[in-house]
Amino acid sequence: MKRYKIAVIQGDGIGAEIISEGKKVLEAVSDLDRFELDWIEYPHGAEHYLKTGELIGEDTLKELERSDAIYFGSIGDPRVEPGVLEQGILLTMRFYFDQYVNLRPVKLLEGVNTPLAGKGPEDIDFSVVRENTEDFYVGIGGRMKGKGKGKKREELEIVRKLYNIKFGLDIESDADELAYQIGVVTREGCERVMRFAFELAKEKGKKKVTSVDKANVLTHAYGFWREVFNDVARGYPGIYTEFNFVDAICMWFVKNPEWYQVVVTPNMFGDIITDLGAMIQGGLGLAPGANINPDGVSMFEPIHGSAPKYKGKGVSNPIATIWAGAMLLENIGEKSASQKVLNAIETVLRKGKVRTYDLGGKSKTGEVGDAIVREVGE
Ligand code: IPM
Ligand code: MN
Repeated sequence: MKRYKIAVIQGDGIGAEIISEGKKVLEAVSDLDRFELDWIEYPHGAEHYLKTGELIGEDTLKELERSDAIYFGSIGDPRVEPGVLEQGILLTMRFYFDQYVNLRPVKLLEGVNTPLAGKGPEDIDFSVVRENTEDFYVGIGGRMKGKGKGKKREELEIVRKLYNIKFGLDIESDADELAYQIGVVTREGCERVMRFAFELAKEKGKKKVTSVDKANVLTHAYGFWREVFNDVARGYPGIYTEFNFVDAICMWFVKNPEWYQVVVTPNMFGDIITDLGAMIQGGLGLAPGANINPDGVSMFEPIHGSAPKYKGKGVSNPIATIWAGAMLLENIGEKSASQKVLNAIETVLRKGKVRTYDLGGKSKTGEVGDAIVREVGE
């Protein structure tokens, strides 16, 4: 019997309750398809950080590297300053494992309402391939304050000049206070995620790949992105390509979502447009994401946050996490099990009897998990 080591990080807020439903469903389908999942739990998150001061250390990362996949709940806690846990845990893992693809399906399932009038499941079914390791997420930046006096002032002048030289900036040297953040995109970084998008299109029999940018304003970085996209596209003559500016694609996602098949986007724009994508597929409670390194360890998570005010109440929708679990199964090679989970999610939503508050129902988190387990067995 095949065995897989799955590392689990529940994280913060509703993380524990949604992950427990995901595990329940994956356990059920592993029995049916005759494989074994060994869950290895990690305590990382706000609580662990407040107790020990550890976000996620090198030792843990090395251990995680030996797993077949990582199943991740959610991160963020009101007791910790924004950014600390997000950068120190989630982004650290995406970067450490070089999970350069963030794959986010935007698919309206039958029985789910979309806020888009006149649109149905046949109109909303595409994949967003978000670059996941570069752009404004590289963490280069800083801030400076005050002109200083005497020697201090001279020092600040030098620091500003150095920043200007290092990053090719043109910061007014007498600015009183400033902050900056640098986005970096590399040819290899763009190429690999774009190739993934084209291969995905091929594999799914899709005919079009849309590239997102803001090449009309952020000309350095996204002019380059566009250039690389054209180069990569030449390798896929059967696939139609187009460019959308990020502001325009927000408009078209709402007006004509049926245009889209595969969308490839730089990191930060991808973050933004996939929240919009989640809304048109019925809400954040239904939107999964996969952080993929095709040659390494990948991580699967719902795209929503930790919703601290619902923690422990059992009212959150576990479907995004269960769907992420289906993506995990596909990634480790259990394709039939993955399909069974997806089918079960669809059946439960289509029947419409068991659904959480966000979808207009009254069911508890655990009841949704149970209903999906029952359908998996059908
Ligand atoms: C997401 C989240 C993360 C991101 C945060 C929590 C770092 O918003 O996965 O979309 O910005 O990528
Ligand atoms: Mn986000």
